[in-house]
Amino acid sequence: MFDLFSEIEEPERKELQALRKELEEQNYKYYVLNAPTMSDQEFDLKMHRLQDLEKQFPDMFDPKSPTQHVGSDLGKKGFEQVKHRYPMLSLANSYSREEIEDWVRKLPAGVEIVCELKYDGLSISLWYEHGVLVKALTRGDGQQGDNVIENIKTIPSIPWRIERDDIPEFFELRGEVLLPWERFEALNKEREEQEEPLFANPRNAASGTLKLQDPREVARRGLEAYLYYMLGENLPGKTHFERLDTAKQWGFHISEAIKVCHSVDEVMAYIAYWDTERKNLPVATDGIVLKVNNLAQQDELGYTAKTPRWAIAYKFPAEKQLTLLKEITYQVGRTGVVTPVANLEPVQLSGTIVQRATLHNEDFIKQLDIRPGDRVWVEKGGEIIPKITGKENRPTPNNVLRTATGSPIGQSPSPVKGGELDSATDTLPFREGLGVGFPTHCPECGTELVRIPGEAAWRCPNENGCPPQIKGKIEHFVSRKAMNIDGLGEETIDLFYRKGLLHNIADIYDLKLEDIAVQERLGEKSAQNILDGIEASKQVPWARVLFALGIRMVGETTAKKIARKYNTIDALQWATAEQLCAIEDVGPQIAENIVKFFEDIRNLEILSRLRDAGLQFESITDEQLPISNVLEGQSIVISGTFAQHSRDEYKALIESHGGKNVGSVSKKTSFILAGENMGPEKRKKAEELGVKMITEEEFLEMIK
Ligand code: IVH
Repeated sequence: MFDLFSEIEEPERKELQALRKELEEQNYKYYVLNAPTMSDQEFDLKMHRLQDLEKQFPDMFDPKSPTQHVGSDLGKKGFEQVKHRYPMLSLANSYSREEIEDWVRKLPAGVEIVCELKYDGLSISLWYEHGVLVKALTRGDGQQGDNVIENIKTIPSIPWRIERDDIPEFFELRGEVLLPWERFEALNKEREEQEEPLFANPRNAASGTLKLQDPREVARRGLEAYLYYMLGENLPGKTHFERLDTAKQWGFHISEAIKVCHSVDEVMAYIAYWDTERKNLPVATDGIVLKVNNLAQQDELGYTAKTPRWAIAYKFPAEKQLTLLKEITYQVGRTGVVTPVANLEPVQLSGTIVQRATLHNEDFIKQLDIRPGDRVWVEKGGEIIPKITGKENRPTPNNVLRTATGSPIGQSPSPVKGGELDSATDTLPFREGLGVGFPTHCPECGTELVRIPGEAAWRCPNENGCPPQIKGKIEHFVSRKAMNIDGLGEETIDLFYRKGLLHNIADIYDLKLEDIAVQERLGEKSAQNILDGIEASKQVPWARVLFALGIRMVGETTAKKIARKYNTIDALQWATAEQLCAIEDVGPQIAENIVKFFEDIRNLEILSRLRDAGLQFESITDEQLPISNVLEGQSIVISGTFAQHSRDEYKALIESHGGKNVGSVSKKTSFILAGENMGPEKRKKAEELGVKMITEEEFLEMIK
């Protein structure tokens, strides 16, 4: 009797579970990804149905059900630790093609070998139950990993659900999470602009991204995943290749570069082909993985404690060369940071000639214990910028190295030169004696360097008088994301600076056609282009003007957030550090930089000239910035259809008047902007909670 009932109930219980998952996904898409795929009405209907089912089956109560909490736009705090169903092993590695040949030859005769690319990212294990992605685990210590499912769900190529009847109850897919080169470069560029530490390679960037607690930021960075291994019980297929092919049919992202090989020669040809061709791929690879194709044969070969015997990785050797460190020069950047640069005897590396490499900072030089005259190892691995990884023993007097011109070096440190201008550098004092340690003064302007506590960098504090800093500020000001003044490139700025036409950003607005046109290489047409660009820049909205001012650590996004809160420069000028800290993304250091910026009389003079020139110091043209604060602190739900504006327009209006648009009704909802055909669920909830509903006319009146 009891059994009969539970059989009848079974489909409804399943429906209940499926609804929870579906609504949870929708909440995530709505709040985190900002990309709902279901209408409000449909959502409400499903929520209603779920509530009914939960009433019918009280034994299935779950405090985590979407009926029990409102959708959240926050990633979970910390990550759940989960034990792997199957340990995540690593692969035996080899850098020698001979060893790979040996490994293949020792396999049973006639065995098929699948060759794949070895992706250089982080391994991930995806668990699918009844076709639904339920966990995404990092490798961790191989036995247990972090469940980073919220972040993994931001990867468009990873399905959250597979709607097929022919899939097993449970399966696991493993693969690699990567940040494509293009995304990596864009992210680093952005970090450079915001003066944040750069990621050394895409793997580090992907790893940092996967550990973020903010899936929205993860989504913005654009991770990618390639899957290469399916595990589970009762899976279809007798070979590894068949399984990956099945996974591909189920909608998973499987690399096109997989090949079944039948001989050592085929394997070697695959390695040779990808050794060069991999450089054209959108993601980083560091080798080739060879796997025995037949799963029964894999079982026979088995595992060692750490690696399968049925697979091996051939790693492409990181290209490395020994060369002479001729001298160390010191480059002063836009923000005054002094970066030591290794000037090398030119060497060929991965098809390019390398003659310079960054030495990052003083600590890096000390750690490697290198100085001019040393022979150093230069490497180009997963990184774009070549790096120095070590040195050969220092030469003895009998073993004097010579530069390309034949002069002996290495016995006493050679003089150290500045980056762009040679002035004032030959006599530059050093912290630990001539040419040893770090210079005490700026190689460009001679100002004493300062080391900011907690930072590894030495910085020239002469912001408004140090040539590269002046030129850097102007370059930043005219750049595309700032004032976007076409025609004023690095070279032209340098030329105008040397000719005395440009000393600060305000000078740009005093440039005259005759001044510009007479300069070498610039005809009247180019000069007019520059003037047109300068004129057009007067319409650039306030948020971008603020970014263009180049206040330290105020990047593009931070500037937008500040401008949203302070919609005139006058309001911003009088803001205290404490008030500034209330803005999202603004910490004490940024707040202090802003306050200091407005305390400097030279900046105030420049701002006054820019204001006279007609720049936008108020947010009147950018619709995204607040037009008023009448809705400040209010959480508003939009529901139904409207006559005068679209829903998106209402969303924008709410934001531009300081309000927050939220998806579902709760006690915290200030009011509902209610249109025609408002969702019944929302209406009911609003009535229950006593949340006010206002019409679109009333709303428009409110913000008028
Ligand atoms: S198979 C039991 N295939 O390399 C072996 N791994 O050094 C399962 N990797 O942890 C791994 N590309 O993160 C496999 N095509 C590929 C791979 C690959 C990259 C990574 C993976 C693994 C590491 C081992």
